[in-house]
Amino acid sequence: MSLPDIAIRPIAYADIPGFHAALDSVAQEGIYISTQRAAPLPNVASFIVGNITGANVQLVAESAGQIVGWCDVCHSGSIVFDHVGTLGMGVIASHRGRGIGTRLIAATIAAAWQSDFQRIELEVYASNPKARALYERHGFTLEGTKRLGARVGGTYLDVHQMALFRPGWQP
Ligand SMILES: CC(C)(COP(=O)(O)OP(=O)(O)OC[C@H]1O[C@@H](n2cnc3c(N)ncnc32)[C@H](O)[C@@H]1OP(=O)(O)O)[C@@H](O)C(=O)NCCC(=O)NCCS
Repeated sequence: MSLPDIAIRPIAYADIPGFHAALDSVAQEGIYISTQRAAPLPNVASFIVGNITGANVQLVAESAGQIVGWCDVCHSGSIVFDHVGTLGMGVIASHRGRGIGTRLIAATIAAAWQSDFQRIELEVYASNPKARALYERHGFTLEGTKRLGARVGGTYLDVHQMALFRPGWQP
């Protein structure tokens, strides 16, 4: 499969089942994100409806009608953090290493700046150097580490906190 077969675009209501399946697939790997199963479909649906109708950003990667990845930047809901978005992303295992994550995060960051976020932050396990390298390639810097802040598959792991500011932002 070549890269032009992959569309990177904003999520749509019709993507809810496909996004749920992709999220569940990455979650079931059990080592990358904070859940081992996706939330039930209605919960995921309300998250997506909130993203589409609200001020969050969520893009998906689609290949031949299948959602194979996503990247989102979401508000916490608190007014004091209104300028801040938290980034989450994943690409299903069969589609990794082909530049989809790179395209997703680049497009999502650009959309987040358009959407008036000033700071994007994220957390990544110390056991996930590929994701950390991807974030560093896109300008994220390490702000701190929650020592042994997660227990993943019975192993305690450091959790790195990274952030990126909108270029030129003057608070
Ligand atoms: C982290 C993640 C999103 C990256 O997505 P990806 O699609 O694999 O990322 P890319 O393909 O853009 O980049 C990964 C690698 O492929 C290489 N690459 C980029 N474009 C490429 C292309 N056209 N062809 C081949 N390789 C390519 C990159 O150089 C990179 O190299 P690396 O192996 O040294 O890291 C993906 O690995 C993933 O979903 N992991 C599990 C979930 C996860 O970790 N989520 C983040 C939690 S914080």
